[in-house]
Amino acid sequence: MGSYVNTFAVLLPSALFLSFTLASIFRRTGTLIGGRFRQASRARRELLLERVATEKRSHQAEQEHRKGKEIKKDDVWEQIEGSLLGSEEELADRDWDGIIGFFHPFCNAGGGGERVLWAAIRATQARYPSATCVVYTGDQDHDKTAILRRVKDRFNILLHPPTVHFLYLSKRDWVLANKWPRFTLLGQSFGSLVLAWDAFSLLVPDVFVDTMGYAFALALSSWFFPTVPTGAYVHYPTISTDMLDSLDTGGQGINAGTGAGFRGKAKRWYWQLFAWLYCRVGSTIDVVMTNSSWTQAHIQTLWGPYRNNETDSDSTDIDVVFPPVAVEEVVSNVVVSEASEKKREPSILYIAQFRPEKNHQLILEAFASFMQSSPTFPSYPGATPKLVLIGSVRDSDDATRVYKLRLLARELHIADNVEFICDASWSAMLERMQTCSLGVNGMWNEHFGIGVVEYQAAGLISVVNDSGGPKLDIIVEVDGKPTGYHASTKEEYAEGFTKGLSLSPEESLATRKRARKSAQRFTDKGFADKWIRNLNKLVKLQIARATK
Ligand SMILES: *[C@@H]1O[C@H](CO)[C@@H](O)[C@H](O)[C@H]1NC(C)=O
Ligand SMILES: *[C@@H]1O[C@H](CO)[C@@H](O)[C@H](O)[C@H]1NC(C)=O
Ligand SMILES: *[C@@H]1O[C@H](CO)[C@@H](O)[C@H](O)[C@H]1NC(C)=O
Repeated sequence: MGSYVNTFAVLLPSALFLSFTLASIFRRTGTLIGGRFRQASRARRELLLERVATEKRSHQAEQEHRKGKEIKKDDVWEQIEGSLLGSEEELADRDWDGIIGFFHPFCNAGGGGERVLWAAIRATQARYPSATCVVYTGDQDHDKTAILRRVKDRFNILLHPPTVHFLYLSKRDWVLANKWPRFTLLGQSFGSLVLAWDAFSLLVPDVFVDTMGYAFALALSSWFFPTVPTGAYVHYPTISTDMLDSLDTGGQGINAGTGAGFRGKAKRWYWQLFAWLYCRVGSTIDVVMTNSSWTQAHIQTLWGPYRNNETDSDSTDIDVVFPPVAVEEVVSNVVVSEASEKKREPSILYIAQFRPEKNHQLILEAFASFMQSSPTFPSYPGATPKLVLIGSVRDSDDATRVYKLRLLARELHIADNVEFICDASWSAMLERMQTCSLGVNGMWNEHFGIGVVEYQAAGLISVVNDSGGPKLDIIVEVDGKPTGYHASTKEEYAEGFTKGLSLSPEESLATRKRARKSAQRFTDKGFADKWIRNLNKLVKLQIARATK
C-alpha cells in the first residue's frame, strides 16, 4: 500500500511537470514559427505601408484638384465618415495605424457574406482612418480596381481606396468541399490551416479577422502570434448541436436515424471529435460576433463553456451583429404618418416566393377563418379586408403551386378577397407596402427573414410564426411595446389579423412607428455601430499586448 502511495507521490508531480513542459514547448514552437513568418514578411509589410502612404497622397491631390475645378464632388466618403462617427461613444485611439487582416478567400463572390465584409471594412476605415485593411483573397484574376468597382456596383458600398489592399492566396482549392469527398468537415478545416499558412507567409497582420467561418485559421494565428488579437464574424456554426442530435433516431434532417450500426457509431465519433476540436478552437478567439440570435445561441452552447475556462473574457461577450438590409430604401419610399394612414386599407400583405416551406396554404386557411368571423374595423370604415400574395414564380412547380392555391382560395370562399401578384416589380411591392396594413409570414423556423424587416421598415404590423429569426430577432418589443404578433396555429394567425386590424387609429400609427424603429437595427448604420464597438475591443487588446 505504502509503495503505491509513494509511486503516486512521484508520478503525479512528474506528470504535472511533463504536461507543463509539453504545453510550454508547444507554445514556444508556435511563437518560434510565428517569428519566422514575421521576419520573412517584414519587407513586404514595409512596402505595403509605403504604398498606402503614396496612394493617400495622390488620392488627396486628386481630391484637391477636383475641388479646385469645382467639379461636383462624388466623394460620398466624407459623408459616411461623418455620419458614422458623430454618435460613437468614444473616439479613443483614432490615429491607430496598424494593419487589420481580413481572411476572406472568396471576397469577390458578391453574396450576403461579402456584403458584411465590405460594410465592415467601410466602418473600419471610418473609425480608424490611419489603419490599413488587408483582404486575403484567392481571387487572383481580379485586381484591386476591379474588385472595388464591383463592390460599388453590386452593393453600393464606396471604399476609400488608399487604405484597403489585397493579398492573393494561391492555395484556395484546399478549402473547396470537392477536394474532400470524405471527412469534409475535417478536410476543409485542415485546408483552412494551409490557407492561413499561405496568408501568414504573405503578411502578418496586427489584428486578424475571419468573416467566412474559418475558426481554425484564427486558432493557428493565436498559436503563431499570441500578441495578435483575433476576431470572428460567424454566419453559421461549422457543426451544430442539431447535427449531433440528429444522429439519434427520431431526430430530423438528412442524417436522421443514421446513428445506428457500426457506421453510425463511427460517424458519431467523428462528429464528436470534430465538435471537440471546434470548441477548443473557438475558445482561442478574442472577439466573437454572430449574424443572428440563432447562430449566437448555437455558438454559445459550443464555445461558451470553453471560452469561460480558457480566455479571460466572459462568455457573454458573443455579440449579435445583424448584417445590413436595404432598410433605408424602403424608408425613403414608404411614408408612415397620419396623412399616409388614409391610404392604408385593411389588407394583409404576404411577400414570399411560392415555395412549400413558405406555407401559403396555412395563411389562406387562417385568412378564411378570420373572414368567417365577419370582422368590421372602425379604423377602416367601409373597407373589406384583403389578402395580397406577392411572390416570384421561378419554374413550373411554382406555377402549379399558385394554381392550387387559387383553387384553395375558391374552396374556402375567399377568392374575391385574395389577390395573387406573380413576379411583381420592386416599385409595385413598395406601392403595396404603402397601402396594406399588416404583413404576414408563414414560414416555420426561418433563420432570418429579410422580408419581415422590410415589412417593419414600411410600417406594416406583422404576424409571424412563433419561431426562428422573425420571433427572436425581428418582431420584438420596442420601448416595451409590441411591433407585431407571433402565431403558431392557423387560429392564432387569424387572431393576429383581428388584433392588428382592430387597433385604434392612434395605436395603429404608434405601432407602425415602433416597427419602423425596430427595423433601424438592421440598417448599414446599425451594423457599423456594432461592428465598431467590437473592433474597438480588438484594437485595445492589440495596443495592450504590443506594449506589454
Ligand atoms: C446568417 O447566415 C446564415 C448562413 O449564411 C444565413 O442563412 C442567415 O440568414 C444569416 N442571418 C442573417 C440575420 O442574415
Ligand atoms: C470549466 O471549468 C469548470 C470548473 O473549473 C469545469 O467543471 C468544467 O468542466 C470546465 N468546462 C470545460 C468545457 O472544460
Ligand atoms: C410555428 O411555430 C411553432 C412553434 O415554433 C411550430 O410548432 C409550428 O409548427 C409552426 N407553425 C407553422 C404553421 O409553421
